[in-house]
Amino acid sequence: MLFVLSEQCLRQGSRIDLKDDKTYHSHLISQLQLSIMLFVRASSLGVLFSGLLLSACGGGGGTNSSTSPNQSSSSASSTAALSDMAALGKQIFFDPSLSASGVQSCGTCHVPSRAHAGDDDLAVPIGGPNFKTQGFRNTPALNYLQFNPAFFFDKDGTPTGGFTRDGRADTFAIQAERPFLAPHEMANGTKAKMAEKLERASYVAEFRRIFGASIFNNPDDAFDRATFAIAAFEKEAPEFHPFDSKFDAFLDGKATLSEQELRGFALFNDPQKGNCAGCHPSTRANGLPPLFTDFTYDNLGVPRNTAIAATADPSYFDLGLCGPDRTDLADRKDLCGAFKVPSLRNVAITAPYFHNGKFNTLREVVSFYVRRDTNPEEWYPSGVNGIEKFNDLPPEYRNNVNTTEVPYNRKLGDQPALDSDEIDAVVAFLNTLTDGYQPQH
Ligand code: HEC
Ligand code: HEC
Repeated sequence: MLFVLSEQCLRQGSRIDLKDDKTYHSHLISQLQLSIMLFVRASSLGVLFSGLLLSACGGGGGTNSSTSPNQSSSSASSTAALSDMAALGKQIFFDPSLSASGVQSCGTCHVPSRAHAGDDDLAVPIGGPNFKTQGFRNTPALNYLQFNPAFFFDKDGTPTGGFTRDGRADTFAIQAERPFLAPHEMANGTKAKMAEKLERASYVAEFRRIFGASIFNNPDDAFDRATFAIAAFEKEAPEFHPFDSKFDAFLDGKATLSEQELRGFALFNDPQKGNCAGCHPSTRANGLPPLFTDFTYDNLGVPRNTAIAATADPSYFDLGLCGPDRTDLADRKDLCGAFKVPSLRNVAITAPYFHNGKFNTLREVVSFYVRRDTNPEEWYPSGVNGIEKFNDLPPEYRNNVNTTEVPYNRKLGDQPALDSDEIDAVVAFLNTLTDGYQPQH
């Protein structure tokens, strides 16, 4: 079953009220500005939408990051069948011959069994022509990203959406260009070099069948078509959005959470305790099971990670929205240090954590959230002026760190928002978000 939220509709601010929606947190997923094409299991949504084609306020059309250029996704069904375009995209995604090293594909860094995050346990991945060049950011999971809108500022001026951790790519296809070219990733340098490799790929006949016999006459076009195919795969393939964690089974009434998991869930939601749901919403919206991200940005003051070679230069800072990778918001100094809120689905299998891969366990992450301000000595080095809080930001941007929202609105000497048992409970809850749960009979 398929339903479409049209871009215009959402821009006009009308909402589709679905019976299973609960009142939402401050950042509303219903603010998605782009059309979302969803193939959702009937069981997640109930009979309410069976056979329904919801085009909320007509009009349709518009630029649409979630629809591939040839609308291939509309031919997919909620069963595992992929459109030809997406099936081709899958082959491209897993083809290491498309890299300069010959050993790295998209799938090398984005591993299916890890919700398409890295499985190297490294803070930042290795790539490049000799497979020796270190990258700059931790590899994010790709699951559930098809619900990520293109970048925009919402009506309150909150930066929202976009692909990569700084939102600089508007679509999956645009995002896919860089890894093929970047010197620290698949390192082809030019689109033509990548297209040369594509022309030798085992599936080239299928590529020509879909995109035309003469597609390689213009190598840049061939390159672009490969990114369209990858985008179709990332949007269509059920493995990117299974919605079959223990938590999903719990929502469907097919599993029970343990007492500790339930307590963790309550603490996760409680605005005075974890307040995690303030940015990682845990309720359904627009007929979607909870995504645990509102696609906004925040500056958490994550400690510097010296495992990243680039940090040997004391003047190197990854400032997220304001650069250096992203360039159009360089003047928005207030956004320096903000990174995208990731989904927490599958977070138990996507370590290490945060944009710089600073932490290896969920316990460390949750402890950091609640003890960052009460016990900064646990997280930051001491310098000449005492504990150097927020040391992965140049001093002039340290004021940008969020110090007003629970759980990081505390001061030195205050009680942390969660005690040790409560941290364990939140971690137990996060462990229920891993897909592939088999309900016990
Ligand atoms: C060397 C490892 C590596 C390779 C190879 C690689 N990626 Fe990534 N990928 C990353 C990292 C690191 C990021 C985060 C980049 C950033 O934030 O600037 C990322 C980000 C992404 C994102 C955006 C995630 C988000 O949260 O918005 C997508 C989508 C993606 N990659 C798909 C691909 C595709 C498709 C390919 C192949 C063409 C690919 N990647 C190849 C490491 C890799
Ligand atoms: C004000 C917004 C906000 C709140 C509140 C918040 N988070 Fe986050 N969370 C973020 C942002 C932003 C990131 C990414 C930061 C980065 O990469 O530097 C993040 C990242 C994470 C990660 C790492 C995910 C990954 O794949 O790397 C985990 C785990 C996490 N949050 C859990 C929690 C928990 C548990 C709570 C409640 C105790 C919480 N968050 C509260 C904004 C928030």
